[in-house]
Amino acid sequence: MKNSTGKSREITLRFLAEPTDINLFGKVHGGAVMKWIDQAGYVCATGWCGLPCVTVYVGGIRFHKPILIGNLVEVHVRLVYTGNTSMHMRVEVRAGDPKERRLNRTTQCTIVFVAIDDESRPVEVPKWKPRTAEDQRLEQAAIRFMESGKQAGEEMESVF
Ligand SMILES: CC(C)(COP(=O)(O)OP(=O)(O)OC[C@H]1O[C@@H](n2cnc3c(N)ncnc32)[C@H](O)[C@@H]1OP(=O)(O)O)[C@@H](O)C(=O)NCCC(=O)NCCS
Repeated sequence: MKNSTGKSREITLRFLAEPTDINLFGKVHGGAVMKWIDQAGYVCATGWCGLPCVTVYVGGIRFHKPILIGNLVEVHVRLVYTGNTSMHMRVEVRAGDPKERRLNRTTQCTIVFVAIDDESRPVEVPKWKPRTAEDQRLEQAAIRFMESGKQAGEEMESVF
């Protein structure tokens, strides 16, 4: 699915988990997974709007299963909602033994990027318009996640 300038709304990064990604327990470090998510989100967001973008929010991150060194990893990102300057994406990470080619979901979250101008001020992005019932469901979910994320942020500010 593409926008009016022919840009795609989703991307998949595919690579091998390397020994440099290891944690103290011999598996892939959570921070490495978060870096891949941020990189994939950036590629999707900047590809959609054609502008520099920065991460403004990451929410609901859940590590379901570990990723092993040598696993084939796929980070799939799909744009599900655009505000004025923000792009809200659903992220799913899948991984598995490349010999078997059967990948399991290991991590999921939402990530939000904002497009910025030369002075790092938010700028408007091309609108994503849902086309199917599934698109509408994901858009509504993204709006709910944004509202609950902002509410949690405000609560955190007031507590810490
Ligand atoms: C991103 C940044 C430019 C936004 O500037 P700002 O003055 O806070 O701008 P706003 O408050 O107008 O928010 C901009 C957008 O972010 C959205 N946003 C803010 N907080 C959000 C949250 N918790 N969840 C979802 N979206 C959020 C706003 O809704 C708004 O979207 P909209 O224009 O589509 O309605 C600024 O916060 C910043 O520079 N942050 C640091 C970014 C960074 O360093 N990231 C890590 C490295 S890339």
